[in-house]
Amino acid sequence: MKKLLTIGALAVIIFAAVSCHKNTVTPAGTVTLDLPAGDYHYFSTRFSDSSGNARATLGRVLFYDGHLSLNNTISCASCHKQSLGFADNVAASVGYAGRLTKRNSKGILNIAGIDSFYRPELVSNPGKALFWDGRVNILKSLVSRPITNHVEMGIDDLDALAAKLSALSFYPPLFQKAYGSPEVTPAKISESISAFMAAIRSNNSKFDQYLQNNPGILNAQEYQGMVLFNTKYNCSGCHHPGTQLYTFSDIIDIGLDQTYSDIGAGAVNNISSNDGKFVVPSLSNVALTAPYMHDGRFKTLDEVLDHYSHGIKNSPNLDPIFLNADSTTLQMNIPSQEKAAIIAFLNTLTDYTTINDVKFSNPFKVK
Ligand code: HEC
Ligand code: HEC
Repeated sequence: MKKLLTIGALAVIIFAAVSCHKNTVTPAGTVTLDLPAGDYHYFSTRFSDSSGNARATLGRVLFYDGHLSLNNTISCASCHKQSLGFADNVAASVGYAGRLTKRNSKGILNIAGIDSFYRPELVSNPGKALFWDGRVNILKSLVSRPITNHVEMGIDDLDALAAKLSALSFYPPLFQKAYGSPEVTPAKISESISAFMAAIRSNNSKFDQYLQNNPGILNAQEYQGMVLFNTKYNCSGCHHPGTQLYTFSDIIDIGLDQTYSDIGAGAVNNISSNDGKFVVPSLSNVALTAPYMHDGRFKTLDEVLDHYSHGIKNSPNLDPIFLNADSTTLQMNIPSQEKAAIIAFLNTLTDYTTINDVKFSNPFKVK
């Protein structure tokens, strides 16, 4: 079932980002929104199914719309590309007016699991969640931040943004459907984008299928990699690939630098013992989200493994797990055959269903 909304949009410039990985501003023409009345599989029962779906559908349009930036060129999808697990393939992404992001874009997947709006029990345990430094734990509240700051969309006045969007003919009907009134407000913008993002979930990678009772699906090398990941090298002590939810994780310094160029979580509350610590990232879709680490310093998984194998630096807040009994820095010294097995295992964490799912794709079609 598809719902088509056709808009003659001569004056409207629509931004279509994801399929071509470039910022394309389409020529004036007829813009069609291709919006299947999809089921966004709510993580929680926060919304009734119908308003939840209408809000996520609206959020999908907003997520892909360049109008959310000051000069109509940058959408959320400019830096969060579906084909790349909603991450980007450069260390620093290009935002409004050519400005670069300070950190590497993060994939968006299963983030509802750490959201205290969708999981109220997390309210009592806030602090470490979204972004590399864990500075936000409520999805809804972070959405205004991408628009106004974290990523250079050039907008600092959300009321002006709401006014701009309400002048586009396709928005009032979408807001009407989602909220029962055509009025565009910053709060509705934030909530609907967060509803869309909360729906981006994944549970169909090869490894998920293995966990869902298909033990034969991993080949011998992938299986060996999984065992090494979980036992000998205890990667799973920090990264929990077995849970389909984005795991609520700690902030950790893994010894990337002797001297920090980005203090990460230390800047959130000015606690120097948190300097150099970053949120343990989910490894779901990790094969798609290169380059790696908060600053995108490693181009390949091979380089990441080299870090754990022999690159760990004795940084001021290095996690004790990386220290030997005599306080020297531990190096994992991973033989190349085992490295290859771990990488083969990491490749089983890719969920091709989510990255190809039409309901998460760019809804703007231009004729
Ligand atoms: C110019 C590039 C760029 C744009 C545009 C952009 N982002 Fe981001 N996004 C990033 C970067 C870089 C990070 C990591 C920043 C950090 O941790 O300090 C990030 C992080 C995030 C995260 C945290 C993910 C996690 O797992 O911790 C979410 C959610 C997010 N962005 C949503 C959005 C939304 C919604 C929009 C549109 C309103 C948007 N982003 C626009 C680059 C961008
Ligand atoms: C003590 C906790 C800890 C252990 C053990 C650990 N990691 Fe990490 N890992 C982290 C943290 C924290 C980061 C992010 C660091 C940063 O960007 O500053 C990270 C980053 C990564 C990344 C990059 C992900 C991305 O999206 O950029 C990969 C891949 C990775 N680790 C794989 C592994 C593997 C494989 C092992 C086992 C050999 C392992 N990790 C062991 C905490 C850990």
